[in-house]
Amino acid sequence: MKKLIDVVQEAGKTCVAIGHFNIADLVILKGVFEAARELKVPVMVGASEGEREFAGTRQLAAVVRSVREEFDFPIFLNADHTHSLAKGLEAVKAGFDSVVFDLSTLPLEENARLTEQAVETFKSINPEVVVEGEIGDIGSGSEIHADGPTPDRTLTTPEEARQFVTETKVDVLAPAVGNSHGMRRGMVTGKERKHLALERIREIKSATCVPLTLHGGSGTADDDLKQAIHAGVNVIHINTELRLAWKQGLEAGLAKREDEVVPYKILPPAVAAVRNVVSARLRLFGEQNQL
Ligand code: G3H
Ligand code: ZN
Repeated sequence: MKKLIDVVQEAGKTCVAIGHFNIADLVILKGVFEAARELKVPVMVGASEGEREFAGTRQLAAVVRSVREEFDFPIFLNADHTHSLAKGLEAVKAGFDSVVFDLSTLPLEENARLTEQAVETFKSINPEVVVEGEIGDIGSGSEIHADGPTPDRTLTTPEEARQFVTETKVDVLAPAVGNSHGMRRGMVTGKERKHLALERIREIKSATCVPLTLHGGSGTADDDLKQAIHAGVNVIHINTELRLAWKQGLEAGLAKREDEVVPYKILPPAVAAVRNVVSARLRLFGEQNQL
């Protein structure tokens, strides 16, 4: 089985991106895995601190490992948006393949100092664990946000990115390049789409030469995502779109028959709804990524 860092770097060479999808339960994991398996592309599943709290850190690691082993399939598990060394350590010790160490709300210097320590600490436990650092403001909350004026967010500069990567030795960088977490109501109906600062992605890539992750992928215009991959993005995170599909699928499953109580009869539409979203995103990120 290839290592995650090799899979991410190879994606960069072939101009495709690895899809990263957040999971909070077995329904979403099943939908993600079925889509990736059908398309035969490697995939990352991630769990934020909240998702880990709900599903169990060690339990998620055990389930994802069992899927990887049983199907001999490159599915990797990421500790998404980890805000403390303790939470990161818990995930690394449980066997997660990567950690997004996110101190992006701190001043850059402090973020860099603490991220450098985290990289050293995590790798002292598992030298193969992939550590991603995050800089800049991309908002919070993989949820539906009210419409209104677009928040004015500052983009990461190439110089900040270079300095941060050099000081911390992170394997992967997540910059602020016009992306943001969550979807506004207009994005749910398709009236509005997110757009990315493509030139800035190019500049950050050439300043850092490390794999780049794009967070906040939900609701982003397809063409912007394609161009972002060509500009140097190697991993794309999608969460809100899955949560929306999961809820709509669940509602459809519940609406089928009023007195149905059997979970495995109610839940298949939720699995299918998640699988459809993941499948469309993976096709866009690059079917040439095939195993
Ligand atoms: O880390 C998770 C993501 O960045 C997902 O963002 O909810 O906008 O897709 P999203
Ligand atoms: Zn994110």
